Amino acid sequence: MTQSNESSGQEREGSRPTPGDPLLRGADLADAFDGAARSYDRLTALNPGYHAHLRRSARRLGIPADGAGRRILDLGCGTGASTAALAATLPAAEITGVDMSAGMLRRARAAHRSPRLTFVHAPVERLAEAGVRGPFDAVLAAYLLRNVTDPDAVLATVRALLAPGGRLAVHEYTLSGRAAHRAVWTAVCKAIVLPAGTVAGDGRLYRHLRRSVTEFDTAPDLRDRLRRAGFVHVRVLPMPGWQTGIVHTVVGSRPVADAGGAR
Ligand SMILES: C[S@@+](CC[C@H](N)C(=O)[O-])C[C@H]1O[C@@H](n2cnc3c(N)ncnc32)[C@H](O)[C@@H]1O
Repeated sequence: MTQSNESSGQEREGSRPTPGDPLLRGADLADAFDGAARSYDRLTALNPGYHAHLRRSARRLGIPADGAGRRILDLGCGTGASTAALAATLPAAEITGVDMSAGMLRRARAAHRSPRLTFVHAPVERLAEAGVRGPFDAVLAAYLLRNVTDPDAVLATVRALLAPGGRLAVHEYTLSGRAAHRAVWTAVCKAIVLPAGTVAGDGRLYRHLRRSVTEFDTAPDLRDRLRRAGFVHVRVLPMPGWQTGIVHTVVGSRPVADAGGAR
């Protein structure tokens, strides 16, 4: 994948919210994240619970003790917030962060330096080509799955990369299915997310965020998707705060007796 430059932070198109904006995928999404990289950590810092919730999902992987001798994969690691959550929870684990946005990854590499952390620039659809090989003991996908073109294909890849019995945590904006939670999401986007994203010059990405959440699986649908992908012990776990009914961790495991080796 070619390296792309971080943008100047200038909005590259009209910043008025337009309900008809298409969802961003592939190179368009990578380009939008490249542009948003410089303001991303500032904006997430304003989101109460963002980092604590990532650490909660890291703990929900259920890896014992400090993670010594374990290999963990952070898919869609972005600027490294989810990687940092894994490193704080499992300080002795070997952690590989993968992201398709050069701009986001540049931030991650600059902010999170440790011999136990490796960052790989690749789309999750092309991990083998990028030299990312299993088995991993656990995979965290934080705010990723909603953004990919084919979530089922990504889940199949994750299952194959996990060791038998290995754990997956999908940390995601995935609505409960209750009208009240959808209304809170819509209100938060209208009052905070879209204005802040537009001021930062990244209106296109944050309009994508709003719409990608309402159009993605509900939490029960995501649980069923993991089951269809062959994960077992699948559970939906809630988050506290304003994210109640809006952000969940959906955890599951590769069956212990799964056929086929990790690739
Ligand atoms: C919302 S950010 C989340 C970053 C980080 N996990 C966190 O919790 O802060 C989503 C990240 O997923 C990456 N991403 C989206 N689709 C991807 C794909 N198909 N392959 C690799 N990375 C992808 C984006 O570039 C972006 O950095």
